[in-house]
Amino acid sequence: MTLTDRPTTTTLEVALRGRRLRRSGGLRNLLRETRLQAGQLVQPLFVRPGEGVRDEITAMPGQFRLSVDELVAECRRLAATGVGAVLLFGVPDAKDAEGSGAWADDGITQRAVRALREALPELVIVADVCLCEYTSHGHCGVLAGPLDQPEVDNDRTLELLARTAVSVARAGADVVAPSAMMDGQVAAIRAALDVAAFQQVAILAYAAKHASAFYGPFRQAAGSAPAFGDRRSYQMDPANGREAMREVEADIAEGADLVMIKPAMPALDLVAAARARVDVPIAAYQVSGEYAALAAAAERGWLDRRAVALESLTAIARAGADVIVTYFAGEAAAWLREEAVDG
Ligand code: PBG
Repeated sequence: MTLTDRPTTTTLEVALRGRRLRRSGGLRNLLRETRLQAGQLVQPLFVRPGEGVRDEITAMPGQFRLSVDELVAECRRLAATGVGAVLLFGVPDAKDAEGSGAWADDGITQRAVRALREALPELVIVADVCLCEYTSHGHCGVLAGPLDQPEVDNDRTLELLARTAVSVARAGADVVAPSAMMDGQVAAIRAALDVAAFQQVAILAYAAKHASAFYGPFRQAAGSAPAFGDRRSYQMDPANGREAMREVEADIAEGADLVMIKPAMPALDLVAAARARVDVPIAAYQVSGEYAALAAAAERGWLDRRAVALESLTAIARAGADVIVTYFAGEAAAWLREEAVDG
């Protein structure tokens, strides 16, 4: 008896025939619940002083510290792929205790924003607002207290974050993204922007930002690792999810236009919980260590770069993120375009 001669079973009852709708590419396409789009992706970029500089970041293959001229060229290419926005981080040459480079009108981020605004008027520009890239000690705020046991001074830092936000708004940023995890930072920034007549500039709040080990490559890229101690007195304990919801709600009450969960893959539960709880747009940040892990495994041939990038981004969207910040943004936008053409 061959396989095909075998009598068919009519008595077998299978409750769910899920395979019926997975049989062909056409059916799968028709029924896909989550459709990733280039327009929801945000590409983080590092900008540094100089000219003609494309300095590859060791722990983030394929990512570069760019001088302003190279940044403009990169953003032209990115805009053509259809990515939704860019998120800028400045890597200054000089640092000091207060991080004064963060709010200097001729600071590296301010110069980059001005050049981009002029070259690409339609580009959505998001500027990071934090001090850690600009402080000599690498903390996200200014220090106070005894020299042998300094602490980050929350309220004095607020003033400096507000100044930084106003200066990047003046340079032409559409959105400011405070990532310092100081209490009250969204309210302080909103008030300062409004007083300076930047009512139209939006705030993307890093609402629930864990003190995550996945930020390592970023700190190498930005030279922003803390010189002593760690960030656990201001960034959240990764063990806490209910507290994350309180942070999300607090930032909305303070005037955040979008709230972000960070990192993304280790916190998909929080993306989903925030989605179910609030109606403001939700962003998730697939951070440097998430990128580095996937990129490194792909370099070794252990994972398929394109497949894992698109699967991880789709999972972040499925969890409820409207906007995804990812180092794969430009590449993923190009892949999505190819898929749309290939079917
Ligand atoms: C600055 C900041 C960090 C990241 C975004 N903004 C670093 C940190 O908190 O140490 C991390 C992003 C990434 O890892 O890709 N406060």
